[in-house]
Amino acid sequence: MLLARAEGMHYFTPEGRQMLDGASGLWCVNAGHGRREIVEAVSAAISELDYAPPFKIGHPYAFAAADALKAVLPADFNNIFFVTSGSEAAETALKIARAYHVARGTPERVWLVGRERGYHGVNFGGISVGGIPHNRAAFGPLLQEVEHLRHTHDPARNAFSRGQPENGAEFADDLLRIIGAHGAETIAAVIVEPMAGSTGVLPPPKGYLERLRHICSEHGILLIFDEVITGFGRLGAPFAAQRFDVAPDMIAMAKGMTNGVIPMGGVAVRSHVHDALMQGPIGAIELMHGYTYSGHPAACAALIATLQIYASDHLFERARGLETYWEEAVHMLRQAPNVVDVRNIGLVGGIELKPLEGRPGARGSDVYRRAFDGGLLVRVTGDTIAMSPPLIISREQIDEIVEKLGNAIAESSAELV
Ligand SMILES: Cc1ncc(COP(=O)(O)O)c(C=O)c1O
Repeated sequence: MLLARAEGMHYFTPEGRQMLDGASGLWCVNAGHGRREIVEAVSAAISELDYAPPFKIGHPYAFAAADALKAVLPADFNNIFFVTSGSEAAETALKIARAYHVARGTPERVWLVGRERGYHGVNFGGISVGGIPHNRAAFGPLLQEVEHLRHTHDPARNAFSRGQPENGAEFADDLLRIIGAHGAETIAAVIVEPMAGSTGVLPPPKGYLERLRHICSEHGILLIFDEVITGFGRLGAPFAAQRFDVAPDMIAMAKGMTNGVIPMGGVAVRSHVHDALMQGPIGAIELMHGYTYSGHPAACAALIATLQIYASDHLFERARGLETYWEEAVHMLRQAPNVVDVRNIGLVGGIELKPLEGRPGARGSDVYRRAFDGGLLVRVTGDTIAMSPPLIISREQIDEIVEKLGNAIAESSAELV
């Protein structure tokens, strides 16, 4: 499968075949493909300043990018640590969490709590707190002081929910089990995706994130939202934190940050996290962490131009406005053969298919391939097809996604039994 060119809502194969992008590339191209403004901003920035070292030295693009980002972040997120990917963002947030507790004189707070079915990229910290066993299998011992909350998937009660499922707020109480086992005074942070994306689209049950926030606050545990997928309008608000009105202590981000044009990630932190780390003598290194390409001028320019497009085209509001239409459309796939669940929130949809006997994932892969051959790019994890189109999508194109995916599922079901 090859892609050679992209424009607007479409990719084109090397032979010139047009593909509707139902996945925003890989959850990143939220403003649609080929945005000249971003390309031109990147080109102008690196013509002026190709590179500047990020250790001890700053440059105007990094500050302008941080200011522009702060304008769309929830209140009290005043500082950003720039990195170059979502995996680095997750890793950085985990390191900041531990360093925060060291700085506050509670170095025994080392445990990191993730969640089953969570995805936080592919670095060692991320796969340790991540909850996808396959991603860990080949890599030997990982971080040891790690626990996992139970996942929030509950098809028996919540199948075919529209938006946030009604049942499952109490799954957050699983944190009390972990606190009971280790003592809150040993736990540094909880990291979750507000909506689990890569594991197959799991919107949070109503009240779940609120409860998690409450338990973390009561016990002095930092709450990290990994918003690598949910950030930048995917859920019809700048961040899921705003959509769900739950304020974490840190937000990890990447993907939609630059519309996918230039690799970039970041960790936004609230004042108390930042300030705790800034107590050392002037000139000392506050956090022994950073990457050669942190805050690269090209990435900063891309971020600024991307945020301008999101604002001028009102794309976050647009996503919110399309949500009901999207929901109606994706739930029509309930009628397709072998569909056992449909989940949606924002401009995200998940279609879970009945696994083939003894061959988990085979039906999902087959549908994915047939959709590709039929001119639609989606994403597959196991037997769940995930859709997350650019926020510029039209209603007709939403219908087209549903039609093409419906055809792929029907063809696959006719052949694979
Ligand atoms: C929630 C989440 N965190 C982290 C990552 C890793 O990002 P990257 O692939 O840029 O390292 C992803 C990627 O899909 C993600 O969905």
